[in-house]
Amino acid sequence: MSRKSRKTGRRFGCSVSPKRYPKIPLWCKNCIAETGVQSFHGTWHFLYTQPNQEVSFNLGVSLNIDLVRKQIPVTSRRAYFDNAGTGPPSIPVLNAINEFMADWREYGENWEEWLPLIIESRRQFGRMIGGVPLDEIASVPNVTSALISLASSINYKPRGNIVISELNFPTNIYLWHLQKKHGRAKDVRLLHRDNNGTIPLEQWEKAIDDDTSIVSVDYVSWTNGCREKIREITKIAHEHGAFVIADSFHALGVFPIDARQDGVDALVCGMYKWMQGPHGAAYVYTKRDRMKELDPNYIGWHGVQDSVARRLTSQQDLFGKPFNIEETIPAPDATMFEGGSWGVISIVGAKAALEFALKHDQTERSHRVLKVTAHLIEGLKKKGRKILTPLQSDRRSGIVVFEDPDPGATYEKLKKLNITVASRVKALRASPHYYNTEEEIDKLLAAL
Ligand SMILES: Cc1ncc(COP(=O)(O)O)c(C=O)c1O
Repeated sequence: MSRKSRKTGRRFGCSVSPKRYPKIPLWCKNCIAETGVQSFHGTWHFLYTQPNQEVSFNLGVSLNIDLVRKQIPVTSRRAYFDNAGTGPPSIPVLNAINEFMADWREYGENWEEWLPLIIESRRQFGRMIGGVPLDEIASVPNVTSALISLASSINYKPRGNIVISELNFPTNIYLWHLQKKHGRAKDVRLLHRDNNGTIPLEQWEKAIDDDTSIVSVDYVSWTNGCREKIREITKIAHEHGAFVIADSFHALGVFPIDARQDGVDALVCGMYKWMQGPHGAAYVYTKRDRMKELDPNYIGWHGVQDSVARRLTSQQDLFGKPFNIEETIPAPDATMFEGGSWGVISIVGAKAALEFALKHDQTERSHRVLKVTAHLIEGLKKKGRKILTPLQSDRRSGIVVFEDPDPGATYEKLKKLNITVASRVKALRASPHYYNTEEEIDKLLAAL
């Protein structure tokens, strides 16, 4: 499968060899080590904190949290509870980005070597959502663009409706109101939470009917941490022939996800939160048997049948023949959503983040998240704090939102103590991850 790069003489292929970026030359490592980044607060951080440290994980064996924490630099300085905002990178992610920078600096353009990385990152994402095949995955810049691509490709039922939840992230609401404005839907049915902070299944049942074109729902709500009953909602939607889109941004990396078992027609996810990857990388999964119903209104040169990435996978020269500009033939797979050039610097980080997450059993990670958040909830209750997150065990996630009389001030106070949470309207949002400890939670509780 491997071919020789015309530019560098190195061999490359569709599956990335671990030797592809062998070792960065010493000069390069040194200069990376000397390159600090100055944060907004005037503090200098050094990216290559532990360049030579090899930490082996025990695949399939219990998570060793001490080892994991050694690979996540922020844990040595901060009790970090804002994974629902931006997840902190692991050392492999930082190293992958640094290696890319070294390659870019050395060779300039190097698509022959970068394209296999993009393809490999899609494959890793497929593994992360339950072993979905490569042709059902596309690599896109962010969740918003993924949702827009889907919205502009779906076959809308004439005078149909769209069912969404107020617990969705705003993008996954704004977009659908516009479809009504532009005549693709007669009605947008926005479901509202009850006093428990949940949307009972009966509400979905009532709202979805034979005229429903699309049901779009977040696996876990960004705003109150409510975990949705995705399989049940999907079943209801499919009984009425609706297309189901699920945003798994606050679920992937926290809970094991099996897209095919969940039955969703499309799943979107970004990398920069619970997956601890960089901004600028996200993925779309589209179920193969619904793909033929999709007909993009907008497309770019990476979304067509004869794209450079598809040329690479079929062992053709990337620019060896002209592009067919007489007609537009969308790719017959999920890559129809890949518009323009990828942010390779983000994708190499995303790929490393996916590999890092895949080292561990996802169920075990989820048990840890639920254990740590349970500890936080108990402590908040003891302090008499009002918790806005649904507390039923099947609705809980990594997000805990609780009222605070002055969230801005509390946020600042915690920040000075090296504790990171997010400040929200009259509330604080803490989103601990599997790498957090109960001792860190105690530190937060003591500071509140
Ligand atoms: C659930 C959810 N979906 C989508 C987004 C926006 O993603 P992006 O910035 O990648 O478009 C967010 C951002 O916080 C989110 O929480």
